[in-house]
Amino acid sequence: MAATAVLRSISVLISFLMCLEQFVLSQVENQFVFNGFNGTNLHLNGIAEIQPNGLLALTNTSKRQIGRAFFPFPLKFNTSSTNISDSLSFSTNFVFAMVPAEETNPRGGHGIAFTISPTMELPGAAPTQYLGLFNSSTNGLSSNHVFAVELDAVPTTEFGDISGIHVGIDVNNLRSLESAPPTYFADDEGANKSLDLLTGNPMQLWIEYEEANKLLNVTLAPMRSNKPSRPLLSTSVDLSTVLLDSMYVGFSSSTGELTSSQYILGWSFSKTGKAQSLDYSKLPSLPQQSKSKSNSNIRIIIPLIAAVALLVTIFGGAYVIRRKKYEEIREEWEKEYGPQRFSFKDLYKATKGFKEKELLGSGGFGRVYRGVLPSSNEQVAVKRISHDSRQGMKEFVSEIVSMGRLRHRNLVQLLGYCRRKGELLLVYDYMPNGSLDKFLFSNSMPNLSWSQRFRILKGVASALLYLHEEWEQVVIHRDVKASNILLDANFNGRLGDFGLAKLYDHGSNPSTTRVVGTVGYIAPELARTGKATTGTDVFAFGTFMLELACGRHPLEPQLESEQIILADWVCGLWKVGAILDATDPRLEGEYVTDEMELVLKLGVLCTNPIAANRPSTRQMVQHLDGNITLPEMPLDGVRIDMMTVQNETSTDFAASFPTSYDENSVSANSFSSSISILSSGR
Ligand SMILES: *[C@@H]1O[C@H](CO)[C@@H](O)[C@H](O)[C@H]1NC(C)=O
Ligand SMILES: *[C@@H]1O[C@H](CO)[C@@H](O)[C@H](O)[C@H]1NC(C)=O
Ligand SMILES: *[C@@H]1O[C@H](CO)[C@@H](O)[C@H](O)[C@H]1NC(C)=O
Ligand SMILES: *[C@@H]1O[C@H](CO)[C@@H](O)[C@H](O)[C@H]1NC(C)=O
Ligand SMILES: *[C@@H]1O[C@H](CO)[C@@H](O)[C@H](O)[C@H]1NC(C)=O
Ligand SMILES: *[C@@H]1O[C@H](CO)[C@@H](O)[C@H](O)[C@H]1NC(C)=O
Ligand SMILES: *[C@@H]1O[C@H](CO)[C@@H](O)[C@H](O)[C@H]1NC(C)=O
Repeated sequence: MAATAVLRSISVLISFLMCLEQFVLSQVENQFVFNGFNGTNLHLNGIAEIQPNGLLALTNTSKRQIGRAFFPFPLKFNTSSTNISDSLSFSTNFVFAMVPAEETNPRGGHGIAFTISPTMELPGAAPTQYLGLFNSSTNGLSSNHVFAVELDAVPTTEFGDISGIHVGIDVNNLRSLESAPPTYFADDEGANKSLDLLTGNPMQLWIEYEEANKLLNVTLAPMRSNKPSRPLLSTSVDLSTVLLDSMYVGFSSSTGELTSSQYILGWSFSKTGKAQSLDYSKLPSLPQQSKSKSNSNIRIIIPLIAAVALLVTIFGGAYVIRRKKYEEIREEWEKEYGPQRFSFKDLYKATKGFKEKELLGSGGFGRVYRGVLPSSNEQVAVKRISHDSRQGMKEFVSEIVSMGRLRHRNLVQLLGYCRRKGELLLVYDYMPNGSLDKFLFSNSMPNLSWSQRFRILKGVASALLYLHEEWEQVVIHRDVKASNILLDANFNGRLGDFGLAKLYDHGSNPSTTRVVGTVGYIAPELARTGKATTGTDVFAFGTFMLELACGRHPLEPQLESEQIILADWVCGLWKVGAILDATDPRLEGEYVTDEMELVLKLGVLCTNPIAANRPSTRQMVQHLDGNITLPEMPLDGVRIDMMTVQNETSTDFAASFPTSYDENSVSANSFSSSISILSSGR
């Protein structure tokens, strides 16, 4: 009897334990958090491995390899259920890092894909552009039942990838449903910031799918940032046709000719509500990047004593050189600008020592370098301006700093500055698509559609209105032109270099006026008096409008005489009722006629040589928004040709500053001159 009781209680215990196990398992299946992977039993294949410190290395830098890691138990998705725990919604976030093999350009590859798949093996899949997910014959098949979010470091034209590194949503196909360059929304600044995935620094990705709205959000940010309030991608996807009842979740990763060590530091997943946040303090650290390969190749044995003596000298010297290298000027009056002040050391590190490779372009204002701030992974553009005088520097810096407070979605945000002997450094948001003039004038760049151009135009016009009328003081730009309009990751036009021209502008004594600006954009009265006004900015903007619509430079001396000056030529065509003949042939007639006519006519009106006859900035914006209609053409008498006016003015055109990122943008209509900044004060 007693034996049966014992047996019965044992069997009860066993079934209880089985229930418990089931319970634990289902808990585990619906939700897990790995702050590092030490001791976890992820299913690994390819060259993936968990390193002793808990770092999941999907690939190393061996070429054409695949590395995968999957959560070892299948998750239950149920397409016909309304029960939250087995419906299709999920939420996940993970911290990853891509460390390129070496300093090459392009720099590394091939990518990491967060993957939901019916199997953990993905048989037959290829490395390189296939990311270990598909091969050339399986890519695109609906029988794949694979969903992925790719972090792709190498664009593949065959899959219609957008240029550059990108984040994409893939359903059964490496041709992404939607993709975007890596950026994140910085809530504190209300602006998008671009990120470089190949810095080797850890970053975090959040992927959330809401079954109810069939909405998938993908959000990227540097590791320690809070999750941005706006996702990078928010796309409607119906996963009910993709997911099967039983699916595995994990990562697939590959290398190609270009390679990176690709790591996952931590991973959190949930099918019931929001995935838990990772505990950054528990994440494993990345291997120290070996500083230089040549170190290991140098095998020269120096006698010990000589070596020690040498070391002492070198260290002493290096210390002095180091001090010198990072030396900067900080004066008492700068204290109040603390937050806007960058240390030279940080900028030096951000730009890898102002390496030639990081050079984005150069022009009259100095050289511009791409950089990644070590503290935040944020991509920035650093402009180095040399100056040989400290006169006026205080006023200029205070003005620059106050301009750092300008906030407009169509201005290139100034983040701060740094000063050294004979040098001023300005730090701006990085604009991944460079300057607009490249797209207008270089045949190697893709053509911008009319709708893109019109949007850029309206955006920049609103930024100009903000500078002129909507900020606490009037800011005259002084150098509006295509090469000063930069394109962000979303091809929004952003006006750059505002206020900088003032650094070069003497203007106080009209008899020695040296006009700052770019020939072709300089209003006649500016050339005469040297005084920049909102009206001279409107003139330059008018020239830019024509440039954008006609796809040609404001001055092209090699053309027939009536065509040399763009504004005069378009005006002439307007007079004979053929204004649309001026449109950019690269548009191939693909434009909205009303908008095109508006832009061309408004461009002519804004470039009126007589300042009083130009629209104001606000009127210009109202015209572009279609809120007021254009006046009937007051052609004769009022609009005299520029040629006439310009021939009457004999001013010393001091300078033209091609200031875009692109050296090649120095064109026939701009000539540079050496000018000593602030040599006579302002
Ligand atoms: C990883 O786990 C092993 C035993 O499973 C342990 O010896 C080791 O210290 C752990 N490493 C870290 C970094 O926690
Ligand atoms: C990458 O990992 C594989 C497998 O662990 C190994 O055979 C190979 O030597 C590694 N390559 C490098 C460059 O470390
Ligand atoms: C899916 O959910 C439906 C409705 O709740 C249920 O009847 C069905 O058995 C579930 N299927 C699986 C495979 O769990
Ligand atoms: C949802 O599913 C879980 C586990 O499959 C089950 O325990 C629970 O009772 C279900 N809830 C509803 C409302 O069906
Ligand atoms: C692609 O993979 C499938 C198996 O999934 C295999 O049958 C096929 O031969 C592979 N094709 C190529 C071109 O490798
Ligand atoms: C930021 O990027 C998102 C997604 O690419 C875009 O929808 C949004 O308009 C951008 N916001 C700003 C302020 O540029
Ligand atoms: C996805 O993003 C959209 C747009 O920002 C937002 O309205 C929605 O709540 C987000 N959904 C989730 C699950 O985060």
